[in-house]
Amino acid sequence: MSNASPTEQVDPSRVPSFPLADGSKIPAIGLGTFGSDHVTADTVASAVIEAGRMGYRHFDCAAVYANEPEIGGALAQLMAAGIEREQLWITSKLWNDKHDKNDVASACEQSLRHLGLEYLDLYLIHWPFRNYHPPGCDGTSRSKDSTPYLHDRYMETWRELERLHQRGLVRHIGTSNMTMPKLELLLRDATIHPVVNQLELHPHFQQPELFEFLVAHRILPIGYSPLGSPGRPDRDRTPEDTVALEDPGIVAIAENHGIHPAAVCLKWGVQRGNAVIPFSTKTRNLLSNLQAVISDPLTSDEMQVIAAIDKNVRLIKGQVFLWREEQCWEDLWDLDGSIAK
Ligand SMILES: NC(=O)c1ccc[n+]([C@@H]2O[C@H](COP(=O)([O-])OP(=O)(O)OC[C@H]3O[C@@H](n4cnc5c(N)ncnc54)[C@H](OP(=O)(O)O)[C@@H]3O)[C@@H](O)[C@H]2O)c1
Repeated sequence: MSNASPTEQVDPSRVPSFPLADGSKIPAIGLGTFGSDHVTADTVASAVIEAGRMGYRHFDCAAVYANEPEIGGALAQLMAAGIEREQLWITSKLWNDKHDKNDVASACEQSLRHLGLEYLDLYLIHWPFRNYHPPGCDGTSRSKDSTPYLHDRYMETWRELERLHQRGLVRHIGTSNMTMPKLELLLRDATIHPVVNQLELHPHFQQPELFEFLVAHRILPIGYSPLGSPGRPDRDRTPEDTVALEDPGIVAIAENHGIHPAAVCLKWGVQRGNAVIPFSTKTRNLLSNLQAVISDPLTSDEMQVIAAIDKNVRLIKGQVFLWREEQCWEDLWDLDGSIAK
């Protein structure tokens, strides 16, 4: 890890933020920390330190990324160097094998212990399925205990998140990888409103209908894989996948601004109204991603050009969470508006 020199720092107060339904503010850019099964925990932790020195204040973590203890060490170093806990926004997520009501609190407490924190700013249910798959498995891996989405069981888990909120262990609670029909049920039954939904969002997968639904229900969209996840695991690659960073429309806009196509994707996300959580372990990329959200915006014409290049190509298909052999990944995403059984 290299120390960020003064010229490589961004004043965190210049980084835009989004208001949540309860009035809190979340920084519009966070550092993703999923090493995609090939970047080590120590390398990700080094990136967290470097990013914090550079001006990042928002870190997107998860128990299943298997690096929370190392990230906890990195956060401790940043706080020892003068960054106050209140200036940080730390998210973690509950993994699929910990949805049972007897497991949720201990899973959250373990993430807190690993991260060295007394509270999380945001805790998400990572996927709306209890279906476990082992880390590093391939795309054909299925657990024999897998089930479809069962709303009563999801609510059992959500109630535990509500209790964590009441205990002050998590400041906000939210969802991830939810669809509109599932969210409609949650919004009907939740006592505490979900303040965010984390979902795949990049210029080739814009999810306009879900995006508008979230905004209409005061749920902030947090866009994961905002660069099209060029380092994603092999199980998440298919021949139909497209590459937003190479899209001629994105490349032309990048050339006009003299920036990398990655910066165009991030500007587009934040200007559209979603937080972005790009992953990187490279100094140059960490810096240019942060600078992207504080430098000159895209024009409305450029925003329209990008709106028109949506290819509806989902990259993170989630097929390991399927519950029957003959299914295809589309069954996870309720494409016909009803929850697949
Ligand atoms: N809720 C969920 O189910 C879910 C699912 C997937 C991801 N996530 C979260 O979202 C985060 C981001 O998603 P992601 O990691 O899949 O993909 P991503 O952020 O779209 O892409 C990350 C990749 O892009 C490269 N990169 C970063 N900045 C770059 C730049 N300026 N120029 C060129 N290449 C650049 C990185 O390589 P270098 O290291 O070489 O820069 C890395 O390989 C994850 O880390 C995780 O925190 C959540």
